[in-house]
Amino acid sequence: MSPAANFENSMLLRKFRAGILGATGTVGQRLVHLLSDHPWFELTEVAASERSCAKKYCEAVNWHLDTPIPSAAANFMVKNLEPSLDCDFVFSALDSSVAGPAEEDFARAGYPVVSNSKNHRLSPDVPLLIPEVNAAHLDAIPVQQKNRGYGSGFIVTNPNCSTAGLVLVLKPLADAFGLEKMFVVTMQAVSGAGYPGVPSLDILGNVVPFISGEEEKMEEEPQKLLGRWDGSRFIEAGLGISAHCNRVPVENGHLECVSVSLKKIATLREVREALRSSSWMKKIVHSPAATSTPEMAWPP
Ligand SMILES: NC(=O)c1ccc[n+]([C@@H]2O[C@H](COP(=O)([O-])OP(=O)(O)OC[C@H]3O[C@@H](n4cnc5c(N)ncnc54)[C@H](OP(=O)(O)O)[C@@H]3O)[C@@H](O)[C@H]2O)c1
Repeated sequence: MSPAANFENSMLLRKFRAGILGATGTVGQRLVHLLSDHPWFELTEVAASERSCAKKYCEAVNWHLDTPIPSAAANFMVKNLEPSLDCDFVFSALDSSVAGPAEEDFARAGYPVVSNSKNHRLSPDVPLLIPEVNAAHLDAIPVQQKNRGYGSGFIVTNPNCSTAGLVLVLKPLADAFGLEKMFVVTMQAVSGAGYPGVPSLDILGNVVPFISGEEEKMEEEPQKLLGRWDGSRFIEAGLGISAHCNRVPVENGHLECVSVSLKKIATLREVREALRSSSWMKKIVHSPAATSTPEMAWPP
């Protein structure tokens, strides 16, 4: 039986038990919502700061989503960051002031850690992952475990939110034509700043042309994502990248304007075809949401 079939079979037998570190924050709430009734995962633990610890989740959290708190999570007791949670792995949505050492503690205690925080993204033995783009970077995990004496635990990170959407689109272009350089201007929603986020008097009716650390992340992370793991280290993509990041008065959803210089000359038709034929685009185009929503027929 293939590994994929094996995986699906084991999924039929039982779900992976997931914990969330930073479950009370903006990203943590989104994870709690996404994990409710998930076919592969069952949320079994939530953890946050001492402020929330030992309270019921529904009492500790300042819930901001439109949907109600999932009933399965509402009565969970919030734990602290002791790495003794009853789960198979953890998602981390911790504030970056604490994420670094806390995630290491969990990995050292044998937990796979999937992190949303910036702390380990550029570490030389930690995969920065978009599964549709660079799943092969997971090969770095045994090296990380050996380097750090983690046993069965490890850390995997995901990119900054603006980088994730950008690189998904760049990847099929890189494969088809090669990339030389790229210039991106973002218009980023206030949700990306967490809660309470940007002061209302700074952002209402305004555009703030600076997000601390964001341009650096957008210029560094694609190099790793579009690069390769050579068995002992990550080799960067060597792209020329310039990023300008702006905060705009929109609640959710980031918009990006991107100019790309390709290594091989391509017609607009060829660019469209490369985007259409990418594996992740095919999934979106053939999803029920896409077929019922005309504006999802992208690229036009
Ligand atoms: N917002 C986004 O769109 C976004 C996107 C990508 C990545 N990220 C990254 O994801 C992480 C979470 O972002 P966020 O916007 O969800 O932040 P947030 O709303 O401020 O939530 C932070 C979480 O960390 C916990 N925390 C803070 N200090 C702690 C401490 N000393 N010990 C234990 N837990 C502590 C908080 O618990 P309490 O509630 O108990 O204080 C809360 O659960 C950050 O690293 C951020 O950079 C955010």
